[in-house]
Amino acid sequence: MGRKGGTILYLDGVSVSFDGFRAINNLSLVLDRGEMRAIIGPNGAGKTTMMDIVTGKTRPDAGEVFFDGSVDLTRHDEADIATMGIGRKFQKPTVFEGHTVEDNLVLSLKGPRSIFPALFHRRSAEENRRIDEILAVTRLETKRSDMAASLSHGQKQWLEIGMLLAQDPKLLLVDEPVAGMTDAETAETARLLKDIARTHSVIVVEHDMHFVRELGVKVTCLHEGSVLSEGSLDHVSSDPRVIEVYLGR
Ligand SMILES: Nc1ncnc2c1ncn2[C@@H]1O[C@H](COP(=O)(O)OP(=O)(O)O)[C@@H](O)[C@H]1O
Ligand SMILES: [Mg+2]
Repeated sequence: MGRKGGTILYLDGVSVSFDGFRAINNLSLVLDRGEMRAIIGPNGAGKTTMMDIVTGKTRPDAGEVFFDGSVDLTRHDEADIATMGIGRKFQKPTVFEGHTVEDNLVLSLKGPRSIFPALFHRRSAEENRRIDEILAVTRLETKRSDMAASLSHGQKQWLEIGMLLAQDPKLLLVDEPVAGMTDAETAETARLLKDIARTHSVIVVEHDMHFVRELGVKVTCLHEGSVLSEGSLDHVSSDPRVIEVYLGR
């Protein structure tokens, strides 16, 4: 482990501009190994851009970005970073609609494979164990043989989280997971993510304050590309600056 060994993700003094506009402005954020963090903030605060920087989609103009101790993420591209153990879930689910739930997970298992051998080779006991475990954590055990197309919007989101887990990431980045979900699905998603966070580091970006409260984790509020406030949800949501730019609207 390097000098940042106690943390899974370390950003310090990170900035990035698009055509002269500073989307991320001297951002510093530290995520402990095994921590789940909720990120909130108004539209345009830089939440998605922060994830773009961590996943190598966007290169910062300045600052340090370290993963898992001493891995300098600014020196790696998106494919490398995914392989190193950072999984990202975008807002819109991208499951394979014409395959079963189980096959979606099999196709996502770690390791180089093309679709034919992935679906038709004899699976190892270890692969079967992993699939069963992921079906359980994503609340999809009874759906394993159903086509992904038949799932509800919320279940598709869970399947996609399962597909990320199949890649065996150390850190999961989840952008607005409960957008468009029913209240019941939203509450179940909070429980599901808490289950996942027992064995993974997780960053969740979300606007739904009720959901953030259910998560019960430390919150970071971003504004204009920097940290505006950080701490418990009660601390952050009573911070006058947060009320001014975000919650008070
Ligand atoms: N690739 C890009 N090119 C130009 N501007 C961008 C790009 N990505 C993000 N931005 C701008 O950066 C700001 C932050 O955007 P974003 O990270 O998507 O905010 P959030 O996810 O918090 O709503 C916005 O003003 C957005 O328009
Ligand atoms: Mg966003």
